[in-house]
Amino acid sequence: MAERDILALRSLSPAEVRRLIDRAKSGVWSSALAGKSVGLFFEKASTRTRVSFEVAITQLGGHPVFLPAQEIQLGRGETVADTARVLSRYLHALVIRTFGQDRLAEWARHATIPVINGLTDAHHPCQILADLMTIDVKKGRLAGLTLAYVGDGNNVAHSLLEGCAMMGVACRIASPAGYQPDAEVVKWAELQAGQRGTTIQIGEDPKAAVRGADVVYTDVWTSMGQETESQKRAAVFRPYQVNAELVRLAKPDAIVLHCLPAHRGEEITDDVMEGPQSAVFDQAENRLHVQRAILEMLVGNHTP
Ligand code: CP
Ligand code: NVA
Repeated sequence: MAERDILALRSLSPAEVRRLIDRAKSGVWSSALAGKSVGLFFEKASTRTRVSFEVAITQLGGHPVFLPAQEIQLGRGETVADTARVLSRYLHALVIRTFGQDRLAEWARHATIPVINGLTDAHHPCQILADLMTIDVKKGRLAGLTLAYVGDGNNVAHSLLEGCAMMGVACRIASPAGYQPDAEVVKWAELQAGQRGTTIQIGEDPKAAVRGADVVYTDVWTSMGQETESQKRAAVFRPYQVNAELVRLAKPDAIVLHCLPAHRGEEITDDVMEGPQSAVFDQAENRLHVQRAILEMLVGNHTP
């Protein structure tokens, strides 16, 4: 299969991640998608991913086709295999937001056009490309920095582990026991980090993770699809709130990131979200710049 997919950050090489960040930072783009259509199949809610991709596709001269799961025949039982093959006859790429990584892999297996992960339960690569771009813009570099992620060992944590390791950023994760990141992802990240002279640390203590960090990152305690666990999670994660007291332990010029949507008063306080160290709205904007770079790379050069 000739087409390129982005199913996780590790689908890209570190050199490609660097090229995407630099292209996104340049503020320059082409008409690479002129006459091309990109589908967005979403089985979960979205504000940033959907809108930034739709706008990016339009800016590149292409046409976005939004495909909510319940409004196409797949919602009535048509298979992923058949849907992917049919859509590949009309479209030039597909952005997929779904549940299990195996379901995304099924789309990729049957589609003959590039498939881009717009979030699964396991990974959120496009988000982390925008995060790495944000850090690079704010700090002037990536390699040698330290990022502390405080909270659930979820999709965002997994992609951060992969992205940081690939780019030489030390990654410290503080999650409660039972909510730590997937062991296979950690192992992969440790291997990559070792090759770049940096480290991965997984622990339970938010203070130890944040002390001296350049970047403090958090995400919701209850991800999409886990709603029935939200009460239990709120209790387990309470000591993992990113508040002013915790941020004070990081470097004085540390930045605070959150992929959004935020639950203010839960994983992050209002004062930190609105404070001078918060870069969350630049981070959200950078989704748009990165999506253009991704589409240029995957679709612009792709002849279906
Ligand atoms: N950060 C992010 O992916 O946001 P949406 O769920 O709004 O797309
Ligand atoms: N971890 C969150 C990220 C939302 C962008 C979720 O999966 O709901």
